[in-house]
Amino acid sequence: MGDDPYKDDRGNKDRSITREAGGTMSGAMADGARVDVTHAFLVGDTMTGGYGSGADILHDCTIAVDPGEIAVIVGPNGAGKSTAMKAVFGMLNLRKGSVRLDGQDITALSPQDRVAQGMGFVPQTSNIFTSLSVEENLEMGAFIRRDDFRDTMEQVYELFPILKEKRRQAAGELSGGQRQQVAVGRALMTKPKVLMLDEPTAGVSPIVMDELFDRIIEVSRTGIPILMVEQNARQALEIADRGYVLVQGRNAHTGSGKDLLADDEVRRSFLGG
Ligand SMILES: Nc1ncnc2c1ncn2[C@@H]1O[C@H](COP(=O)(O)OP(=O)(O)O)[C@@H](O)[C@H]1O
Ligand SMILES: [Mg+2]
Repeated sequence: MGDDPYKDDRGNKDRSITREAGGTMSGAMADGARVDVTHAFLVGDTMTGGYGSGADILHDCTIAVDPGEIAVIVGPNGAGKSTAMKAVFGMLNLRKGSVRLDGQDITALSPQDRVAQGMGFVPQTSNIFTSLSVEENLEMGAFIRRDDFRDTMEQVYELFPILKEKRRQAAGELSGGQRQQVAVGRALMTKPKVLMLDEPTAGVSPIVMDELFDRIIEVSRTGIPILMVEQNARQALEIADRGYVLVQGRNAHTGSGKDLLADDEVRRSFLGG
């Protein structure tokens, strides 16, 4: 095992398979607003697969993000949004398609190795250690680092001042919005090249949601591309450079957040008119 499968994969990035895959993709995109993801910084390209030996959940699903961008995935419950994120993070065996990060084919890498390659992932559930303190959660986030991570921790505390205040408190005692800050902060501790967030505003009030979005925009401005799933579709698309509407594991609509918000069909079907 070791390095060999990975080495063999590395050539893929320059071969035309990505273009072939892109060719099949156009059919999947109902709106025809196909984005060329060939050279995107992070791309899950025409991903097909499901859990274990179960039926496929994703069908030629493509999502991508570039530096300076916030890409948002929206869609009904059970559409496969979390599954797509897990697939990009390496928690699913893809039957088809590939995942590329910064020009490297990482389809064969384990989630741990993807973290080492620069992926930060905040899953939808169980994304903090509730019995550990806030600071211990951040330290856990830095587990792969051998260098001094105190500067990064200070940056996280600057981004989320409330976490510094509560750093000795058990994370489980915090409010929903504060827990999400812990989860995002933990992911930032590895100094990721890309940040993936699955429903970072789940269960928080509209005011806290706005605050979280502001912090996410702030992270994005530091140059870290952000790929996130959101159930607050309208608000999320307002800050999205790219938007993906997934339906039943397929790309239903793709475009800039602005375009999707202006699209009649998207408004009617997914934004409540
Ligand atoms: N761990 C799992 N094992 C088997 N099926 C799963 C698992 N997680 C999700 N699913 C199924 O995959 C489909 C998509 O779920 P999910 O990706 O969580 O949707 P979303 O995040 O868009 O709400 C659903 O039919 C769900 O039941
Ligand atoms: Mg989900």
